[in-house]
Amino acid sequence: MTTATLTILDLAVALLCVVAWFAAGVTMALRRAGPALALLVAALLVTLARAVSVAVLAGRGWWFVQEKVLLGLPMLVVAALAAAVVAGPRLRARAAQPAGIDVAGVVALLTAAYAALASFVLTFLIGYPLTLGTALITVAAVPAGALLTVRALPRPDQAGERESGPERAGVSRRRFLGVAGGVVVVGAAGTGAGLSVRPGATVTHGGGHGPASRAAVPVTELRGAAAPGPGGVRRAHVLTARKATVRLESGRDIDAWTFDGTVPGPRITATQGDLIEVRLVNHDIDEGVTLHWHGYDVPCGEDGAPGVTQDVVAPGGEFVYRFRADQAGTYWYHTHQTSHLAVRRGLYGVLVVHPRGEQDPGHLDLTLPVHTFDGTVTISGGAEHLAPAGTPVRLRLINTDSEPHRFALAGTSFRVAAVDGRDLDRPGEISRHALRLPAGGRYDLVFAMPSTSVALAVDDHAATVRLRPGAGAPDSEASAPDTTGWPELDLLAYGTPAPPPLRADAADRHFTLVLDRGLAMVDGAPAFAQTVNGRGHPSIPDQLVAEGDLVRFTVVNRSLETHPWHLHGHPVLVLSRDGKPASGSPLWVDTFDVRPGEVWEVAFRASNPGVWMNHCHNLPHAHQGMMLRLRYDGVTTPFGGSHSAGPSHAH
Ligand code: C2O
Ligand code: CU
Repeated sequence: MTTATLTILDLAVALLCVVAWFAAGVTMALRRAGPALALLVAALLVTLARAVSVAVLAGRGWWFVQEKVLLGLPMLVVAALAAAVVAGPRLRARAAQPAGIDVAGVVALLTAAYAALASFVLTFLIGYPLTLGTALITVAAVPAGALLTVRALPRPDQAGERESGPERAGVSRRRFLGVAGGVVVVGAAGTGAGLSVRPGATVTHGGGHGPASRAAVPVTELRGAAAPGPGGVRRAHVLTARKATVRLESGRDIDAWTFDGTVPGPRITATQGDLIEVRLVNHDIDEGVTLHWHGYDVPCGEDGAPGVTQDVVAPGGEFVYRFRADQAGTYWYHTHQTSHLAVRRGLYGVLVVHPRGEQDPGHLDLTLPVHTFDGTVTISGGAEHLAPAGTPVRLRLINTDSEPHRFALAGTSFRVAAVDGRDLDRPGEISRHALRLPAGGRYDLVFAMPSTSVALAVDDHAATVRLRPGAGAPDSEASAPDTTGWPELDLLAYGTPAPPPLRADAADRHFTLVLDRGLAMVDGAPAFAQTVNGRGHPSIPDQLVAEGDLVRFTVVNRSLETHPWHLHGHPVLVLSRDGKPASGSPLWVDTFDVRPGEVWEVAFRASNPGVWMNHCHNLPHAHQGMMLRLRYDGVTTPFGGSHSAGPSHAH
């Protein structure tokens, strides 16, 4: 069973616990002793089931159960046992002759219900890591609920004991409420909780040394080369960001945000060693724009992170990006300002860099960015292409959306030559396999054109691109392929293994990122956020590294959504997924999909100084808090340092 399935099961059992204990309490309050006794037994059994589900889940990693093991479950078990001891005998005794409400029994059962509820809510709203503050609040909530219940229930002996009983109870209640209230206040003031107003630690060292006292370099000095490399040329572009009505290839008109009035924006190509120079002009995008070169390891000052590497470019403003095209491969660019809206509306384009001296005019080289406009999946670049049999074909697939896409190539066998722009080591020929492309990711597929047609289907024919060897050439299965049942290629076991380029056991720093949903501050306001280690942007501590460090990330997904993790400025080497080492070609990626319940280990060399965004590339998730910074020791930013959140932060 997958960890995600176990997580869902545990949540279901936790919810069942709440229902069972409430049902037992309410039934007893209704003086139906027989059914109440049966429900008590059922609630005890469900509680036992919860203990089992937590124990099984614990086998998948401490991150998945920490708050349950340390607090949720013990609290539930104690309350359940107390309820059984108090209510059980009373229910048995009264099964024969029902009398007035048994306050003690009902309160005991309902207190178990509150404990079950608190345990459920704890996981749902707080999660990992459990902090003292949230633990105290949670613990205090249960007796507080019990006391309120005592007050709310009619007392069977109210007439007889008006003189002494209630008064005594009132005093102790007051005291108890005072204690509980105090605990809540202490808890709220406690540090470390995601909702805490106090910022807590602003930097983590990952086990490496802290900041050294050396002269600081601002990111503004980390700029790209001014001249092309030997044999290279200067490739100058002006990109103007503006609103425009754009006709999609389907014929539909959309109100888009564009570079130069087109979606995708102008295609930027270069040959290795060329100088790419792009003047970004903002015509009328009020939110502001920047250009981020996704997957391209530019010097940090060219990275386009507003508020971190530059000020956002406001309407009427401009910014010139300049860097040498040293990496060959398939990349893309997009704005990094309010990107959850702006990229979706069209502020993106492709960046393709060809290796020097390797351009064959006889090749068919197609760049196919996939993007969803108003719920319609589109592939730019044309739905039909002609390629005589034998033509070497390269398809560059780019996912510019926030969700993964499934690609299936029918009618030919093929190789995945490159992932995220980086070549794989001797990738094998495959066919009838689907490819899942994470948000932001790229795959280059290569094959020799067969004498029959070939079809590339996205999301099982939400969109399709066809290649034909010639007009009137015979069709193959590619005319109407059913690709839904094709298994997904596992890139961690694809290609030829090579000695690992990086040794994780020699890491200088190790950071763990636990991804979840929960209550946290995001941009200064409380939210049901997408969190990293219980916090939201910008209060997630910076990860500090020093130039030359070997850095390791453990990325854990506790949530029920996929998180395509993306570090700027560096490709990362995939070491393992769910404890299983990568066994194929060394796999360097800039985005890796951490699916619900998965644990990924990746590593990289800190060789590109800067202050780098490190975030989920489901852009709405990043906007909801799932974004932090990786900061090199000695590098500073004059732009405030907090990635600007939206128009209100624009300059
Ligand atoms: Cu393509 Cu920070 O992202
Ligand atoms: Cu995400």
